[in-house]
Amino acid sequence: MTTTWQPVPGLAFGGDYNPEQWPRETWDDDVRLMREAGVSIVTLGVFSWGLLEVADDAWDLGWLDEVIDLLHANGIAVDLATPTASPPIWLHHDHPEILPVNRSGLRYHQGGRLQWCPSSPVFRDYATRVATVLGRRYATHPAVRLWHVSNELGGGNRHCYCEVSSEHFRRWLEQRYGTVAALNDAWGTAFWGHRYASFDQVICPLDSETTQNPGLLLDFDRFSSDALLEHFLAEKTALREAGVTAPITTNLMVGVRPSVADYASWAPHLDVIANDHYTIAADPRRERDLGYAADRSRGLASGQPWLLMEHSPGAVNWQPRNRAKAPGELVRNSLAHIARGADGALFFQWRASLAGAEQWHSAMVPHAGTRTRIWREVCELGGILQRIGEVAGSVVAGAQAAILADDVSGWAWGHGQKPLNGFPLHSLARAWSEALTDRGVTSDVVPPEAPLSGYRLVVVPGLYLASDATAEAVAEAARGGATVLVTHLSGVVDEHSRVREGGYPGAFRDLVGAFAEEYLPLQADERVSLDTGWTATDWTESLVVTDAEVVGRYESGPLAGSPALTRREVGTGTAWYCSAGLEADSLDRLVATVLTDAGIAPDVPVAPGLEAVRRISDDHAWLFLLNHSTDPVTVDATGQDLVTATGATGHITLAAGGVAVVRER
Ligand code: GLA
Repeated sequence: MTTTWQPVPGLAFGGDYNPEQWPRETWDDDVRLMREAGVSIVTLGVFSWGLLEVADDAWDLGWLDEVIDLLHANGIAVDLATPTASPPIWLHHDHPEILPVNRSGLRYHQGGRLQWCPSSPVFRDYATRVATVLGRRYATHPAVRLWHVSNELGGGNRHCYCEVSSEHFRRWLEQRYGTVAALNDAWGTAFWGHRYASFDQVICPLDSETTQNPGLLLDFDRFSSDALLEHFLAEKTALREAGVTAPITTNLMVGVRPSVADYASWAPHLDVIANDHYTIAADPRRERDLGYAADRSRGLASGQPWLLMEHSPGAVNWQPRNRAKAPGELVRNSLAHIARGADGALFFQWRASLAGAEQWHSAMVPHAGTRTRIWREVCELGGILQRIGEVAGSVVAGAQAAILADDVSGWAWGHGQKPLNGFPLHSLARAWSEALTDRGVTSDVVPPEAPLSGYRLVVVPGLYLASDATAEAVAEAARGGATVLVTHLSGVVDEHSRVREGGYPGAFRDLVGAFAEEYLPLQADERVSLDTGWTATDWTESLVVTDAEVVGRYESGPLAGSPALTRREVGTGTAWYCSAGLEADSLDRLVATVLTDAGIAPDVPVAPGLEAVRRISDDHAWLFLLNHSTDPVTVDATGQDLVTATGATGHITLAAGGVAVVRER
């Protein structure tokens, strides 16, 4: 169970360090404070291209040498970035053709970041050159333990609609389909008579005033993800050819919403899965959002440890109302990621900027300096991470449930006109994750291609697009003894975003033994009841049961008396179908019903507001306990709490907002 990417012994702790924004004397203060807080690694150089390559092929690397040496002398490792997220002004000035073009056909201007077209050969040359220069210079520096390609690729340049991108898109389509006839067939271009006579007639889906072909839009999303991945790989190759042997990664943006790229296809190319996660201040259960993102990051890492590359010490600057974190939230957030498999917690950023676009973003060293709660909590966290460092390399203990999540499916739902426009379908997966966590059941959030054997419960929550292979894998899990739960709006379209004929949920119709004839989304303020005592909002559908037991019926609303919830025995397992958009309390009761059906008991202690996760190694088990509530909580635990260095014999009491990491006996 040991892994090889860990840049430092134990758990990594630190953040983005931008010394170029500060005078030289501040650097000495920085490393002194880093040592005080227990920082073990910093991410360096993410946005410093223009200060390293000061003009075309004119280099000023001396200051970076000095910072890296200073960090090394103080025992702090470096995660060195290729600085390509932020092209220098001179590059945009000399080569405006690298700037991306938006859907309206307008080219962006200099002054932002990630402002480059992923398909631009000009940009590719400049980006791989800076990667090569840095790779050659620092490949063997003992401080540089990890490489960080660019930053949040796709965060600012997910799609480019320029002519170079169109040409790249055409080549990509040719490779995917071989013939234009196959493309016409896949996209269903008989509709509106939009047949293509040759690949040359295809362009990026620039604004055409009305809604566009869903197959075209979906393939453009896939292409855009592949174009960004191609760019990542070009930089990674440049680093390797320059002699870099340390692990190379890039920071993903895995969350509840569909990601900016198809990360399941990126994951095999990263030496470690690294994620950035920011809580949303207005979300009253933001810890569950965090938990879902962390479980999904672990799913991309095939269950192995991953790295939290960024989160915030306090407020961010990009939400409508940027509230500071509550006391203790910083520590709980970091530990929640670690509980769910991260082998480190890094922040954006080390010292709060005084100037520039992110001057209102929190930092480990705030504007007010070290006389602050953030600083005290940063130091507290640093101490805790040292005391629990032994968990590094361990894995989250065998989850009994899997939740399927797929970016491509999310993109397909997001395009064009739908039965319930604007509905955040991805919220179903989070609702299931939240309900399972509340009931003390650990779940893995995995891509549909992941192996499903070993899970007693497989949840398919609003997986709008499902391939035949996914449908077969889910059916196989049921036949093999798992309880499968499929929700509304799953398996509706195939991989070309074409509706599956014969009734919804097409790909899972035979498995669940029921199909919907018609969709009846509810009005915004409408609520219907079921004869199980549950209530639903947003979604109902008229279900025809072909080979299943009806477990619940609609009791009110347009479908009163019709089936709403079904269960079918399949092999040694079962397949449930829930057609209704259940409200949280009702979903919780469905979860309880399905857990009983699957024979799943909680694998961690349960209490209101408690988050409990277990990590295990060959020799040990550690129970992470995080009390998100404002009341103390007492739970069963036996062993040694590494946070307070006290023993727990049978139970442990956590103060309001308190944490414990119990090495279990
Ligand atoms: C992202 C970026 C960082 C910073 C933070 C702010 O995660 O990677 O550079 O902009 O957002 O929240």
